[in-house]
Amino acid sequence: MPADADSATHAAESDPPRHYLTVSALSPEDFARLISLSRRMKEEPGAWRQAIPGGRLAMIFDKPSTRTRVSFEAAAVNLGMHPLMLRPDELQIGRGEPPQDTARVLSRMVDAIAWRTYSQAGLESFASHCTIPVINALTDEHHPCQALADLMTIEETIGSLAGRRLAYVGDGNNVAHSLIEAAALAGMHVVVATPEGYEPDTAIVAAARERAATTGGSVELVRDPADAARGADAVYTDVWTSMGEEKERAAREQAFRGYVVTPALMSLARPGAVFLHCLPAHRGEEVEEAVIEGPWSRVWDEAENRLWTEQAVIYALVTGDWRGDQSR
Ligand code: CP
Ligand code: NVA
Repeated sequence: MPADADSATHAAESDPPRHYLTVSALSPEDFARLISLSRRMKEEPGAWRQAIPGGRLAMIFDKPSTRTRVSFEAAAVNLGMHPLMLRPDELQIGRGEPPQDTARVLSRMVDAIAWRTYSQAGLESFASHCTIPVINALTDEHHPCQALADLMTIEETIGSLAGRRLAYVGDGNNVAHSLIEAAALAGMHVVVATPEGYEPDTAIVAAARERAATTGGSVELVRDPADAARGADAVYTDVWTSMGEEKERAAREQAFRGYVVTPALMSLARPGAVFLHCLPAHRGEEVEEAVIEGPWSRVWDEAENRLWTEQAVIYALVTGDWRGDQSR
């Protein structure tokens, strides 16, 4: 069956996307279903063992990873699949084999592919040549698997997501983009505080605002972290310098100096507010030790939830059973 790139970008309630490349490709219903499935998998891990017996998950990581790599591998094993970690320097793709050829070959041998790479456009082109599901394990522009674990963690800690206020403080990067898209799908009010020049992508914000208008949510951009944190149910941050941006480190350290999540900033949030970070964290840069190790922090639950959300994504895409009915 020829692959159709459009299926990755246009979600319909009756026709869930074949791939998971961006959060915005999902409908609000499909996004909520994945969170619900993840929570059920966490509550009843035994019910999903061997749900995809003998399946194969290929993983390619062009950038370093701890959480994403291990969660995909562990999730595949939980489901009865065999994970294949393919080092890019050992693949022919590293010697110039066109990605679209690799896509077609892997489609004949495995059931799903998770790829962490640089270019979102490159990932989408690769997926358009695959006849099996492709999962975005992080690109320069998006980190959709992270956003699922983030919202799952908020929901399991403070309850339903709609109407909640989510503050993002720091760089308008890949993690911020997926978080904004997810918050819009879930009907949350996301307020993003960045220094000038580090705002999230204009087109992503505009599309998220359009989506939020249909879910009762909103997307606001501010300059002052206090304006974001005030009254927030959750405060989120990420590193100032993402993978691949190391040459900009000194300039970024200057630009982000006031964008630190401190206990004082957390005290502006609502009582019971949670602190989240995708990790890895740089204590003393974007977050103070007293916050990440303090009463607000849910970062270890958030990291664990990568496992359950990865498992739900693989299961839903490979089986087509987004409600999780078939393995019960
Ligand atoms: N949060 C996250 O994606 O972590 P890794 O880079 O360790 O996978
Ligand atoms: N924004 C960070 C996220 C790491 C999980 C990066 O891309 O390096």
